[in-house]
Amino acid sequence: MGVGARRGVSAAEVLAAVDSVLPAAPGPVRLATLDTRAADPGMREAAASRGWPLTGHAAETLVTVPVPTPSDRVAAAVGTTSVAEAAALLSGGRLLVAKTVHGPVTVAVAEDGEPADLEPADVDLRHHGDVEATEGLVDLAVNVRAGTPPAWLRTVLHDAVDASAAYPDARPARAAVAAAHGRPEAEVLLTAGAAETFTLLARALTPRRAVVVHPSFTEPEAALRAAGHAVERVLLAPPSYRLGDVPEDADLVVLGNPTNPTSVLHPAGDVAALARPGRVLVVDEAFADTAPGEPESLAGRTDLPGLLVVRSLTKTWGLAGLRVGYALGPADLVAALAAQQPHWPVSTPALAALVACTTPAARAEAEAAAVQLEADRAALLAVLPPGVEVVGTPRASFVLLRVPDAVRVRAQLRDRGWAVRRGDTFPGLSADHLRVAVRDPGTSRAFAAALAAILVPGPQRRDPLSAPPSPDPTDDETS
Ligand SMILES: Cc1ncc(COP(=O)(O)O)c(C=O)c1O
Repeated sequence: MGVGARRGVSAAEVLAAVDSVLPAAPGPVRLATLDTRAADPGMREAAASRGWPLTGHAAETLVTVPVPTPSDRVAAAVGTTSVAEAAALLSGGRLLVAKTVHGPVTVAVAEDGEPADLEPADVDLRHHGDVEATEGLVDLAVNVRAGTPPAWLRTVLHDAVDASAAYPDARPARAAVAAAHGRPEAEVLLTAGAAETFTLLARALTPRRAVVVHPSFTEPEAALRAAGHAVERVLLAPPSYRLGDVPEDADLVVLGNPTNPTSVLHPAGDVAALARPGRVLVVDEAFADTAPGEPESLAGRTDLPGLLVVRSLTKTWGLAGLRVGYALGPADLVAALAAQQPHWPVSTPALAALVACTTPAARAEAEAAAVQLEADRAALLAVLPPGVEVVGTPRASFVLLRVPDAVRVRAQLRDRGWAVRRGDTFPGLSADHLRVAVRDPGTSRAFAAALAAILVPGPQRRDPLSAPPSPDPTDDETS
């Protein structure tokens, strides 16, 4: 474990950072840092309290180690472009966790073994809930609104398929989205889903210091890494998972609001405060319309430098398979992203959906769904059995739970017909986290009963209430 820290860091701060990235079942752990930091009482106390050896290395040694996330700022401060990653990789091995900032401490984890494969392989960033929501299970793993797309939208889509012999004309959809958010059309990028924006960003930008705030949707980091960019993680701390410090010189910062998987809704002011000249601030608002009135959305803000707001039609309208979304930002950034798109990137049915879902009537329907969702979420929280911890304050269409022995619990839920989203593929979460979609109260009650039966197993206990409702066409469509 490589550790970088400010002078005078406390043992508790070091251990909190180390524990946030330590694999669930680590082998013997060794701490390594800069020689001048190895003498710090906090660092020594942290190592001693766990019985871990602590080694200090000279900056001249660390600077010779090739690392995925070098930093000129660190070089200027201590004479090596990396402390945490370089110290972790010094004796060869494979980087498991790339440089991760946790308060005043930076940590990286390497595993002894064959010489460095510099791609971090700590979690599968491309694991998403859809692979867990398999046929026949009630889908609480994917957060697409149940009962969608509504009948009127299906009609729009069918008509658009009928009109698909011609190449798509994006102009009406761009105008509709621009009008809905009160922005010029040049500030609107139409995309094949929010996920496309992350790939476009990775292709269009050459960030010096890219930071992704976790735990969060993993596609932005996956896309950046796939394009060859080093990515630094800033891990938000439990239990609130509220926004904290982001490195001042980060020129690309990505976060979600509300955040998948924590369901935390950051105050708009906290998010806006991260915008700076010279920085692209990407706010993934794929779930913004699940909060009534979208109180913390920055979609209408044109005064913040470098702000790109990413939106999706997937969740509220049940259009995951259509691939449709958009981004809002400064015209020059939008143009740079558009230049990376293929010609005709958004299909005729997706464009029709954009027009149809931005009308006042559609927006009123989305708002009503968000209000209903609040009640449904309260109903779910009210029936969860004892022993289940609700993480943070959920504000979106899913809740994050901490459940003892969650790997077993998730497997047994599957046996009983329920799919929930595993938490351990989100950086910063553990195998004890489960993400659960909010559904109607009847479904939530049945789910809670199944969970209770699993958590407190009795002799052949199978509560009739825990039998999942038979999957109806709606469930099939949302899986
Ligand atoms: C936070 C977040 N952003 C974006 C997406 C992807 O959205 P889209 O289907 O529009 O690509 C997801 C999908 O799970 C998500 O959870």
